This record gives sequence, structure tokens and C-alpha cells, in this order.
Amino acid sequence: MKDFDPAKSFGPDVAAHYDDDERGDEEDAAAFLAEYAKDGSALEFAIGTGRIALPLAAKGIQVDGIELSPDMVEHLRAKPEGQFINVVIGDMSSARTDRQYPLVYLVYNTIFNLLTVDDQIRCFENAARHLTKDGVFVVETALPHAWISPDRPDYIRAEYVGKETVGLDVARYDPVTQLLEENHIRFTSQGISMSPIVCRLITPGEMDLMARFAGLRLIQRFANWQRSPFDIHSKMHVSIYGF
Ligand SMILES: C[S@@+](CC[C@H](N)C(=O)[O-])C[C@H]1O[C@@H](n2cnc3c(N)ncnc32)[C@H](O)[C@@H]1O
Repeated sequence: MKDFDPAKSFGPDVAAHYDDDERGDEEDAAAFLAEYAKDGSALEFAIGTGRIALPLAAKGIQVDGIELSPDMVEHLRAKPEGQFINVVIGDMSSARTDRQYPLVYLVYNTIFNLLTVDDQIRCFENAARHLTKDGVFVVETALPHAWISPDRPDYIRAEYVGKETVGLDVARYDPVTQLLEENHIRFTSQGISMSPIVCRLITPGEMDLMARFAGLRLIQRFANWQRSPFDIHSKMHVSIYGF
């Protein structure tokens, strides 16, 4: 997508509406992650508005974050408990908090927001840098084939159809670069707005290799936060990496 700037894809407009509809996995994710925050601390890469960090903090975990979008962090800060979360504004593939944690985590398909293989490897390296020696890096993301199929790499989907608002998701996938270019288009009586995003889709196997470059290995993989077995029917995975 020409002139697409990842740093702007979660700007003021997206940030303002980000918390309008909950994804629904917040409590399950926090319960899962709390089990790995052994000394009571954790670092979230791409912490956003604190959707997962805040329920995790409510369990007594000190959560720090790294986040590219100041607008998303502004919304985190506006929440009462959000003031207690330390956030470094920067890129999760390179920014540092200068301490180590038993748990570093990256959820909601956000590993895909890094658009080159090098940046995705650097993300694993940065997670390893922030882990204590028995710490774990937990990544939750979709399987590429759950989003695109080889015979239908381009699509238009109705995201919602209301009386006064219609949302369309328009996308095109390039299997050579593994980049999925998407635009969420919203039609209302006030006009049309667009939210472009580009993702680099990677398989669990590619992630396992990236982890090895960072000195990490896959410890366990589940199909969801409830620890269902990962199998041929899985549409997403929760993968746990350690040294
Ligand atoms: C789908 S949201 C997820 C936010 C939060 N983790 C959650 O689960 O709600 C993706 C977030 O990743 C952030 N992001 C994208 N690329 C990033 C990068 N390279 N480094 C840090 N944050 C990034 C975006 O600004 C946005 O806040």
C-alpha cells in the first residue's frame, strides 16, 4: 500500500473508537497470562489502550508496556488504573524498558503489524532481551489461512450493516511478500472514513524459526486462552517461548 505508515495506523480516530467494542477474550487472556508473571511483573509489547494490561494489573501484576502510538497510550492514561502503567513509546522490535520480566507478551495478531521478516525477528530478539532466564514470551495470533485462502487472496466483506452505518473490509493479499493490505471503510450519513492497515502474515512454523534466531524455543502451543489442543481445526494459536 503506497505511502502506508504503520506509525499512523492507530492514530487519534482509531484510538478514540478502539474500546467501543470489546473483543471478549480479556478476562481469559489475563487469567492465562497471570500464571506466567511469577514475580508479579510483566511487559506487554504493543500495549494499546490497556485492553489486556488493565485486567492483568487488576490481578496484582505490575504491567509495563511498549507502544508505538501515543494516541493509544493517551486513552490508556485516561483510564483511572492506566496511570499506574509505565509505557515506553517506541517500536516493540527495538525499544527497551531497561529491566527484565518473567513474562513478555504480544497479543491480538500484533506480531503481524511488523512488515518485514527482519522486524519480526527483531521483535523476538527484543522479547528475549527483556526476559529473565526462566521467563517466557507469549504470542497470540491468527493462523494466516483463517484470514485468506489461496484461491481468494482478494476480498470485500461486510463488517457491519446498520440502518445509518455500513462497514466494509476491503483486502488484498500478496503471497510473495506475505503482506495483507486492508482498508476498513465506514459509510455514514456524515461521509466516508477509511482505516488502512497492512499486516505481514506468518505461520506458527515461521514464528518458531524466528524464536530460534533469538535464542528461544517453543515450549507449548494452545489453540486459545482456554488451553484447547492446537490442531488442524485451529484458527489461532497461543504460543509460549522460553530459553
Ligand atoms: C490490535 S492493537 C492491540 C493493542 C492491545 N495489545 C490489545 O490487545 O488491545 C495493535 C497495537 O499495536 C501497536 N503497534 C503496532 N505496531 C507496533 C510496533 N512496531 N511497536 C509497538 N506497538 C505497535 C498499535 O499502535 C496498536 O496499539
